[in-house]
Amino acid sequence: MRQKPTYRLLKRPGPAALNGIITIYRAQGWWRRGDTPAMLRRLISGSYLFAVAELDGRVIGMARAISDGVSDAYIQDVAVLKEFRGAGAGSGLVRALLKGLKSGGIKWVGLIAQDDSHPFYGPLGFSELKRARPMLLKGSYV
Ligand SMILES: CC(C)(COP(=O)(O)OP(=O)(O)OC[C@H]1O[C@@H](n2cnc3c(N)ncnc32)[C@H](O)[C@@H]1OP(=O)(O)O)[C@@H](O)C(=O)NCCC(=O)NCCS
Repeated sequence: MRQKPTYRLLKRPGPAALNGIITIYRAQGWWRRGDTPAMLRRLISGSYLFAVAELDGRVIGMARAISDGVSDAYIQDVAVLKEFRGAGAGSGLVRALLKGLKSGGIKWVGLIAQDDSHPFYGPLGFSELKRARPMLLKGSYV
């Protein structure tokens, strides 16, 4: 049987974990030209929670929550390396975040399920927000 990943919340990842996280951002196409490891460090420390899934010390998945730390949070950047998908790591990552959010007293937890991934989030307790649309700033600031 395949070994089960362990889940860890990070604030200041060491070099190996940071590289592992960069690998996942790159694999997802979420690493833009000009992004740097220093920016990623700031993104991680500035997130309310940043979780990684590890197998034999290798980062195979990640997820983060951004939050005011009081009432609301958004989950984003949920991703598992392709070869490790379908074995529960993605669910484990979201559960690790939810546990941390719950212990912080944060009750409103939202996310955008991209690329038809909404069936993944249902069993984790999420349902579609009715009469709402995700919006994104396009072009220049007003
Ligand atoms: C979404 C993702 C994180 C799931 O990771 P994973 O480790 O494969 O997830 P799990 O093994 O915990 O899957 C749990 C269940 O969700 C289902 N599931 C997983 N990914 C799914 C997806 N993209 N769409 C629909 N269902 C999905 C699985 O089939 C599984 O169902 P089962 O319990 O009936 O077998 C992974 O597919 C991924 O990295 N996708 C690319 C990035 C992405 O789409 N992120 C989320 C949207 S922002």
